[in-house]
Amino acid sequence: TPSRLGCHQPKHVNHGKQTAAQPKFLAAAGSRAPGAGKMAAAAVAARAYEAASRSALAALERNLLPDAVTRRLTRLLLAQRLRLGYLPSAPLQLQDLLLFAHSLEGMPIAIETDTAKTQHYELPTTFFKLVLGKNLKYSSCYFPDDSSTLEDAEVAMLELYCERAQLQDGQSILDVGCGWGSLSVYIAKKYRNCNITGICNSTTQKAFIEEQCRENELSNVEIIVADISKFEMERSFDRIISIEMFEHMKNYKALLKKISRWMKEDSLLFVHYFCHKTFAYHFEGQE
Ligand SMILES: C[S@@+](CC[C@H](N)C(=O)[O-])C[C@H]1O[C@@H](n2cnc3c(N)ncnc32)[C@H](O)[C@@H]1O
Repeated sequence: TPSRLGCHQPKHVNHGKQTAAQPKFLAAAGSRAPGAGKMAAAAVAARAYEAASRSALAALERNLLPDAVTRRLTRLLLAQRLRLGYLPSAPLQLQDLLLFAHSLEGMPIAIETDTAKTQHYELPTTFFKLVLGKNLKYSSCYFPDDSSTLEDAEVAMLELYCERAQLQDGQSILDVGCGWGSLSVYIAKKYRNCNITGICNSTTQKAFIEEQCRENELSNVEIIVADISKFEMERSFDRIISIEMFEHMKNYKALLKKISRWMKEDSLLFVHYFCHKTFAYHFEGQE
């Protein structure tokens, strides 16, 4: 979705915002200070870039951009991000990654948890019904071939999770960061004797899942609304699954320690986590 693409735009790119620095540039351009011409040219270029970004986004939101243009613009943004992430040598790259990993240990489990809720998770479910597949899977799908539809790709991925997490009927299952319940509801329908507990951070997500359970006459799903970074409980599960929630987290050591307390001796944890193969960086807001 555009908002998720937006998460990955580099900090220094100005997307249609008038920055505080610009009036200063223009004031300097009016004086005879050395370099004033260059600064004025930079300010003009920045304004042109902002205007172009604004009209491209407006056209995108009105569905006026052909897919080929949207694809091209997306690739440009991705290429820009890759240029910032790759360092000149492998040792530097590794050092950078290790520094990043160690820095996470000094952070809380999650930060700015309310921002994600206002940006995505508490938006009206009707919006997500328009842009997601039938299962409202808010994470990657699996397209085994070019002709798969979104619905087929959702199911293909949900099936793969069941297989790889070694699910069996009768197990107790915890779905951490369950979203609109794509996997929780899928498991509840497939394995009628499983008890599924989902944790999400949004009341609209819980309401949608409960509506699904009523429609499908499922009584084996319980949804808890909580911020996982603060949540504690005295329960344990045969399987714990987390699909694309770890991206929101910072201190994985503390998170995994917490999750381990909800596991039995022979429980398994299955995590689907998307990341770049070479480097990592924090979520970067545009403000
Ligand atoms: C990218 S969505 C994935 C949703 C779902 N697993 C799926 O595949 O459709 C990430 C989900 O993580 C959950 N989440 C994010 N931050 C959380 C937090 N701090 N506490 C609890 N849940 C959180 C929300 O439910 C959100 O919908």
